[in-house]
Amino acid sequence: MTAIAETPACPGTPTVGDLAPVLPVVGHDTPAPLVDGRRVPYANLDVAASAPALQDVADRITQTLPLYASVHRGAGYLSQVSTTLYEQSRRVIGEFVGARDDDVTLLVRNTTDALNLLAGCVPASDDGTPGRVLVLDVEHHANFLPWQRSADATVVTGRDTVAETVAAIRDELAAGLAAGRGYALLAVTGASNVTGETLPVADVVATAHAAGARVLLDGAQLVPHRRFSLAETGVDYLAFSGHKTYAPFGAGVLVGRRDWLDTGTPYLAGGGAVRSVRVERTDWHDGPARHEAGSPNVLGAVALAAACESLAALDADALRAHENALRARLVDGLESIAGVEVVRLWSDAPDTVGVVTFTVAGYEPGQVAAYLSAEHGIGVRDGRFCAHPLLSRLGYGAGAVRSSVGVGTAGEEVERLVAAVAALVADGPQARYDVVDGLWIVVDDPRPVPEGSGLAGLLATAGPGGDEAFGCLPEDA
Ligand SMILES: Cc1ncc(COP(=O)(O)O)c(C=O)c1O
Repeated sequence: MTAIAETPACPGTPTVGDLAPVLPVVGHDTPAPLVDGRRVPYANLDVAASAPALQDVADRITQTLPLYASVHRGAGYLSQVSTTLYEQSRRVIGEFVGARDDDVTLLVRNTTDALNLLAGCVPASDDGTPGRVLVLDVEHHANFLPWQRSADATVVTGRDTVAETVAAIRDELAAGLAAGRGYALLAVTGASNVTGETLPVADVVATAHAAGARVLLDGAQLVPHRRFSLAETGVDYLAFSGHKTYAPFGAGVLVGRRDWLDTGTPYLAGGGAVRSVRVERTDWHDGPARHEAGSPNVLGAVALAAACESLAALDADALRAHENALRARLVDGLESIAGVEVVRLWSDAPDTVGVVTFTVAGYEPGQVAAYLSAEHGIGVRDGRFCAHPLLSRLGYGAGAVRSSVGVGTAGEEVERLVAAVAALVADGPQARYDVVDGLWIVVDDPRPVPEGSGLAGLLATAGPGGDEAFGCLPEDA
C-alpha cells in the first residue's frame, strides 16, 4: 500500500507520497492559488475542523433533492417519502454507532448542540441541586462549557499518562461517593481534538459505572475515524457531528439511554415537541420529538446516513492503516525538522486518530498557517482549538498549528506539508506577512477568489475581521 522512499527535505523518514485516498471526497482537486501566481490542488489538512463531503454523500443529496418535501405532518406523497427518509436516516445513524434497542437517536445540529441538549437532561441530585458531572481539562469547549454552565461540574486535571489520568478519574468518582454526593455523569472525549489521542473507553466506562456514574463520550473526533459501538463499549451517550463525518449538511447526533432523554427539559420549545398544548399546561412528547421541535434538517440527516453507510462498508483495518500511515509520516517528518515540536498529551494513549499539532520555533502559529496556505496551498488550523484549559496547561497558551487527515487525504498532501515546514525553517517565508485584526495575512495578497464565487475578496483582506469573529485565537491575540 505504502511505498517507502526518502524525501530530500527530511532524510531518513519513510514517505507516503503514493498513498491514495480511501474514499473520494468532493473538492479533492480544487485548485488553490499561490502568492507566486501558480495553482496547486488544495491540500485540505484541516479535516478535524470540518471534513469535505464524501462523493457518495453528494450523490445521495442530488438524488434526494427531487424527493424533498415537508416532513412529519404532510399528507402528500413526497412528504411521506421525505418523512420516511428522515426516520430511516435516524435508524441508519443509530445502527452505525451500535445504538442499543432502547436508545434514542436525536438529530441535532452538531456536537455542541448535542452536549447542550444532554446538559438539560442530567437528573438533579437527591437534594435538588443539579446532577454532578465530572470532566477532564483536556476537553473541547463543547464538552466543557455546557457542564460548567448548567451542571454541578468538577474538572479533573489530566495527568502525564493515560493510566494516571484514569486513576485520577477513579479517585474523584470515589471521593464523590464517599461524600454522599456521587457523580451522575462522566463526560469525556473519544479522541482529543488537539492531539488525536484516545482514552481506553472500556476502562473509563467500567470505572464510571462502578461509581454509579454514566458516561458521555464526545465522539466528534472519534466517530469519523474509528468504528465505535455503544452496545459493545457500554458508553451511555455519544455525541458527534455530520460536518466532521464527511456529511457537511448541518446535522449532528446525540444517541443514548432513553430515561434521561425522556424526562429531561425539552431542548427546544415549539411545534412537534408536544402532544397537546393548553393555555395553562403543555404535555410534551417523549422520544426524539421531545427535543426536535421545529422543522427538521432532512437533507442533513440523509447526508449523514449516507456517510455512515459508506464508512461502515469500508474495511475497518484498512481505514485505520491509511490514517496511521499518514499520521506516522506527519509525526516523523515534522519531528525531524529542527525547532518543530509535536504536541502530546500522554505517553501511553491506546490509539491516536489522524490529528498532529505542532509548533515551529521562531514563528507564530498564525504565520505558519498563513504561509502554508499562501505558498503551498495547504489548509491547516492554528490557535488554541477551543481547548483553552488544555493548551494553557501544556504551555501552548500562544497556540499551535494543527494538521489533520481523513479518508479523503492523499499521501502527497502530507508530504507537501512536511516539505513546506522544512522549507520554512531552512529558508524562511518568501512572501511578506503581517497581523491585521489579530489574523496573519499576506501583505498585498495577489491571490484571486474562485471564479463565479461572487466574492469581493477573502475575509482576512476584504471583510470585517477582528477578534469577535474567531473564537479560539491565541491568549494574547
Ligand atoms: C472533540 C470535539 N468536540 C466537540 C467539537 C464541537 O463540534 P461542533 O463544532 O461540530 O459542534 C469539536 C469540534 O472541533 C471537537 O473537535
